[in-house]
Amino acid sequence: MPLLIKNGEIITADSRWFADIYIEDETISRLGRDLDAPPNAEIVDATGKLVFPGFIDPHVHIYLPFMATFAKDTHASASIAALVGGTTTYIEMCCPSRTDDALEGYHLWKSRAEGKSACDYAFHMSVTRFEECTQSQLREIVADGTASFKVFLAYKGFFGIEDGELYQTLALARELGVIVAAHCENAEIVARLQQALVAQGKTGPEWHEPSRPESVEAEGTRHFGTFLEHTGATGYVVHLSCEGALKAAITAKQRGVKIYVESVLPHFLLDKTYAERPSIDGMKYVMSPPLRDKRNQKVLWNALAGRLIDTVGTDHCPFDLEQKMLGKDAFPHIPNGIPGIEDRINLLYTYGVKRGVLDLHRFVDAASTRAAKLFGLFPRKGTIAVGSDADLVVYDTSYKGVVSVKTQHTNNDYNAFEGRDIEGRPSVVTVRGRIQVKNGEFVGDAARGRFLKRQPSCC
Ligand code: URP
Ligand code: ZN
Ligand code: ZN
Repeated sequence: MPLLIKNGEIITADSRWFADIYIEDETISRLGRDLDAPPNAEIVDATGKLVFPGFIDPHVHIYLPFMATFAKDTHASASIAALVGGTTTYIEMCCPSRTDDALEGYHLWKSRAEGKSACDYAFHMSVTRFEECTQSQLREIVADGTASFKVFLAYKGFFGIEDGELYQTLALARELGVIVAAHCENAEIVARLQQALVAQGKTGPEWHEPSRPESVEAEGTRHFGTFLEHTGATGYVVHLSCEGALKAAITAKQRGVKIYVESVLPHFLLDKTYAERPSIDGMKYVMSPPLRDKRNQKVLWNALAGRLIDTVGTDHCPFDLEQKMLGKDAFPHIPNGIPGIEDRINLLYTYGVKRGVLDLHRFVDAASTRAAKLFGLFPRKGTIAVGSDADLVVYDTSYKGVVSVKTQHTNNDYNAFEGRDIEGRPSVVTVRGRIQVKNGEFVGDAARGRFLKRQPSCC
């Protein structure tokens, strides 16, 4: 059925104007004032509302075997949570461990999503080992439409790779024109600090941050930059959390390294004192890189406004309270991760745009357009234009609410942003022209989501 969205104010990364949007066959076919529509068209009145391109979360974990357990969401729950929060596409980290076969892992991750997601999705393929068969496997995966890699410089022995493997991964990425995302923390130093702290009886969640200090993330980021420089590959630092790491990325960029930066929702709004709360209260806030000293938040907001940070993702990774308790005797066993897929847009809008820290266009850019461009989805996704997929968010800026576990769709028993006010929320969300959310509730097709095949995006 055709769809007409009338009278909204369209906001993209670089323009704003009042227009109707007419959608046929999943894509936007007309844009303009006072558009007509056939009698069978569905009409959405967007008077007084903003209309954004569907938001893209470039960093989520849904199926994730990690730290002796599994992240809680399925594609069914995560995609509905994403859509209610205005995210119409996410890129999941496909993360086989170092002992798994990469190609088998890739097909396993794909099978977990196929037919089960309400929003569109893609993958970053993690390279957690590089051996004889890895080259040909990665070529096959890229040819299948997964045109970005992920490496972990952290999590020694599980996801983490050695320098030789890092070099080979980047050299192949350079040849294929594939961007490489990286978790930048020095795995060796983290392992040594964890051991030393636990040996001193420092076992609570408050010791997680001291075991992965800012200098260790800065070193990891510098290291990645140096490897990018010598291989000519293009890199994307994920979940950058602090000033030292940002400086390392900027320094690399200034000497011509092709390096982009993502920061994630928790690091903008939460600080390390949350993880310093006793026992389970603190464990909820354990993620890596850790929540930092509060002074870093201003640095991140400024860098986001000034385009030194390219994108805002979530690193959505839900573990419930029982799972968090796996680390009750020693913080290195607390499953790392904080969920946020549902709250990213409303919190970024409220604490960024409404508080005057973030320009509306930069908001759209950081939460949608930039990721689409970096990861080979633009202009199909990330903008509102004739020919683009009709992924649209009709946004109600007069809405006032509070984030709460009681109303969330994410499959978890806490919300790290519990009690935060929000000033705005999606009133209608479409995926390729189909209305999936109305007034905060999922009303659509639970199997609407498609795997997005992507071409390599770096030259
Ligand atoms: O704590 C985190 N970030 N958990 C998910 C795995 C990762 O490092 O992205
Ligand atoms: Zn990570
Ligand atoms: Zn992650």
